[in-house]
Formats: sequence, C-alpha cells, structure tokens
Amino acid sequence: MLNGYKNSTILAQEFYNDKLKLQKRIDFWNEYGTNPTSYGERLESLISDSYENMLDIGCGNAQYSSRWLKYLKKSATFMDISQDLLNVASKNILEFNKNNVKINIKKENFLDENFGSEKYDLVIAMHVLQHIDNISCALEKINMLSEPNGTIFITTYDNTLDDWLNTTHYQLLTDLKFPLRMLNKDQYLSFSGENAIQETRKVFKNIEEIKFHNDAIVTDCKKLLEYYESSMMFRMSEGRRSKDVSNQQWYKLKQQMYTKIKDEMSRNGYILVKGRVQILKIKK
Ligand SMILES: C[S@@+](CC[C@H](N)C(=O)[O-])C[C@H]1O[C@@H](n2cnc3c(N)ncnc32)[C@H](O)[C@@H]1O
Repeated sequence: MLNGYKNSTILAQEFYNDKLKLQKRIDFWNEYGTNPTSYGERLESLISDSYENMLDIGCGNAQYSSRWLKYLKKSATFMDISQDLLNVASKNILEFNKNNVKINIKKENFLDENFGSEKYDLVIAMHVLQHIDNISCALEKINMLSEPNGTIFITTYDNTLDDWLNTTHYQLLTDLKFPLRMLNKDQYLSFSGENAIQETRKVFKNIEEIKFHNDAIVTDCKKLLEYYESSMMFRMSEGRRSKDVSNQQWYKLKQQMYTKIKDEMSRNGYILVKGRVQILKIKK
C-alpha cells in the first residue's frame, strides 16, 4: 500500500487538489501562530543578494517565492505536480512580478523532469523534499541544477511528533486499530529536523541551519479539527485510496479527535500546536 506522504500522485490528487488543503494550513498558521515574525518574513530576511534565474521546486501556491521575484534579473521557473496550486501560484506571480522577469510555469514531477543543460543561481525546495522518496537522488539533482556559486534554500519540518495533536492522533490510530503501517513514523522522519541536515550534508558542505519556531495557541475546536484534517498526519496515510480503511473508520477518527479536542480545550483553555521549521541556506 502506498504512503500518501511520499507519493506524488496521492499528494496531488488527495491533499493538494482536494479543497486546497495547503491554503487551510497556511491560513491556520497566519491566524494562530504566536511568533511576531512570520515564516515568510523570516525566509525573506535570509535573502542577501540579487539573482539571475530562480527555480522553485514544489512551488505550491508560490505565496512566499512569488514575493522574491523582486530579487531576480532574468527568469523564474515554478514547478509543481498540482495544477490547482499552480493556478493559485499564477495569480501570486502576476501580482508580484514587478521587474517583469520571464516566468515559466511547469506542471511536472521534479524527479522526472529533464532540465537539459539549464542551471539556476537560486534554487528553492521548500517543504517538498520530505515528500520525495529518493532523497539523495533529489539532492544530487538540485546540486546539478544549481550554478557553481549558486544559492539553495531547503525547508522542512522540524520534529513535532511529541505535541498534543500528534500524540493524540497516534493514540487514536492505535485505539481504533488502524493498520500498523500508519503508525510507522519513519517516512515522516526520513527528511525532518536533524535527519534532513545529515542527508543534505552528504551533498553540500556550506550549510547555514536556521530553526524557525511558531507555535500556535488555539482556542477554537472547529478550526483545530479543520487543521488536523489538512495536516501531515492525515497525509501519512493514503487518503481515500486505502482499501483496508473504511469511510466509517475515517469518520470515527475525526469524531473521536473532535471529542478529545473539546475535552482538552475545556480542561486547559487552549491547545498548543508546535510549529517548527528547519531552514537550510546553502551556498555552493
Ligand atoms: C507542503 S507544499 C509546499 C509548497 C511551497 N513550496 C511552500 O513552501 O509553501 C509541497 C508542494 O510540493 C509539491 N510536490 C510534491 N512532490 C513533488 C514532486 N515530486 N515534484 C514537484 N512538486 C511536488 C506538492 O504538490 C505541493 O504543492
């Protein structure tokens, strides 16, 4: 059975095209995140140069990278497997392309794309490599695509498996007898936190490591349930493709999570969701 966390077809069909769940997550962090500096602002503060050509791998809606168009001189290529997200990205790109650099928008799987001899002095892969199964192949490809003096930004999750939402999720999966493979966290951890740094060090030497913390304090039960449904935890399963998990079982999981959320809110007044991002800035 395929794991949705690492499978581009499932990701595109179930998690990124289905009601644009990515946007729900972004809205959640914008609304409840407690860090006065947003993730987008922190990322942008790390840009210290202007660049000729940018490649954004797994651009999603390009809500951050479209704002970087002002640092470019020639071109920007945005690539994603989800057409719905590329449609939203196009609007952001149009809004922020004040320098009128050449724009290429490609609906492709990064690993399958033949870039020929193209090279970029700014390559970004933000929150995408953790979804790619063959991480060393992906990092080697990024290395090949970047100019000898190029800059690369890679972001991924730092480990948040110990927060209330994650702990409760795995407890419910166990209680409701979900298939054991869904309890396996290896896929999630393979490119997260310290593992991501170690994998990246195998290919790149000059890496600046930045941790961004933005914990959410949530008091609205329904909003937290909505976030849960759009979250990685759901993505680590197979979405509606799981043949051995009935709709009823998914429904039960959601219902029981909602009850747990309400209980915890009334006991504690709020629920803290850990927001931890690992940013790697690489200078070749
Ligand atoms: C968590 S989102 C991040 C989006 C954006 N980079 C950001 O930081 O907001 C991951 C994106 O990677 C895309 N993606 C996943 N696997 C991909 C692949 N193999 N090739 C291209 N895009 C991929 C997904 O469709 C999704 O839009």
